[in-house]
Amino acid sequence: MEEPPRPTLFDFHGVSMIKYFTDNWDNLQNFKARPDDILIATYPKAGTTWVSYILDLLYFGQTSPQHQTSKPLHERVPFLESIMPPHPTGTELADKLPTSPRLIKTHLPVQFVPKSFWEQNCRVVYVARNAKDNAVSFYHFDCMNKLQPEPGDWDSFLNRFMEGKMVFGSWYDHVNGWWEKQQTHSKLHYMFYEDLVEDTGAQIDRLCSFLGLSPSAEEKERITTGSQFDNMKKDKMANYSTFPLMDFTVSPFMRKGKVGDWKNHFTEAQSQHFDEDYKTKKMMKNPTLTLRFRTEL
Ligand code: A3P
Repeated sequence: MEEPPRPTLFDFHGVSMIKYFTDNWDNLQNFKARPDDILIATYPKAGTTWVSYILDLLYFGQTSPQHQTSKPLHERVPFLESIMPPHPTGTELADKLPTSPRLIKTHLPVQFVPKSFWEQNCRVVYVARNAKDNAVSFYHFDCMNKLQPEPGDWDSFLNRFMEGKMVFGSWYDHVNGWWEKQQTHSKLHYMFYEDLVEDTGAQIDRLCSFLGLSPSAEEKERITTGSQFDNMKKDKMANYSTFPLMDFTVSPFMRKGKVGDWKNHFTEAQSQHFDEDYKTKKMMKNPTLTLRFRTEL
């Protein structure tokens, strides 16, 4: 198959986007959520796949274990806004999903989420990751994924990250917009990648109490162990090795899974500049959120 050219970023209602996430806009905005749908929302590279995997195991690990070995995770948890012909769109996949509840993934900034999710009072799990590791992970992803814009070199990528000129826009706006949403939508569970790395079991407990689930101790242990980085990396149904437009010789999807890998990429000058810029961002002045981000454990 001939490779499509890399997409270019454009301004879409004030947010940088690419056509693969805007071309299905009317269907997306009219998407009919169901009250038991669970929306997994993240800025790209914050741990979406990890949390999707955990939720899928929590809901379906016991009732349909064949599911996990036969269907790639991106089909079990459709990517709502995606439109990449000839593949079915995210809304089509979600409409056809036979499971109950439906687990649905999105990277949309909060203001773009179809309104039926709010009208139906759906549960939402949001995962945030510290900006430095998030930027490093995003850079490697854009290098290996031909469906993303050309990343350029690391320094120019980092500057674009600070300017918010990334697919799905500014990290700073994204994590803040979703944080603020908790004030009007109580069924929103806001988690941090770093907390998950530090103590996966404790975070699964918190997720379960949010979702009203009570797995047995053995089941919980199975999920905690099964979702550890090395195990997921080996799982062909979750590691994206079935995805043709990702070049794993450049970087694997399951790359490192660490907190603090940014130290291997940022120069001292880049780190200082990034920290100074961070402090100037108006939305990063809310200490209840900013203090929750950890760049090392
Ligand atoms: P790195 O590139 O830093 O390794 P997303 O799923 O949102 O695209 O995020 C991908 C990032 O989450 C990658 O980060 C990936 O390695 C990491 N990740 C995925 N599964 C993980 C796990 N089980 N434990 C830790 N990190 C995980």
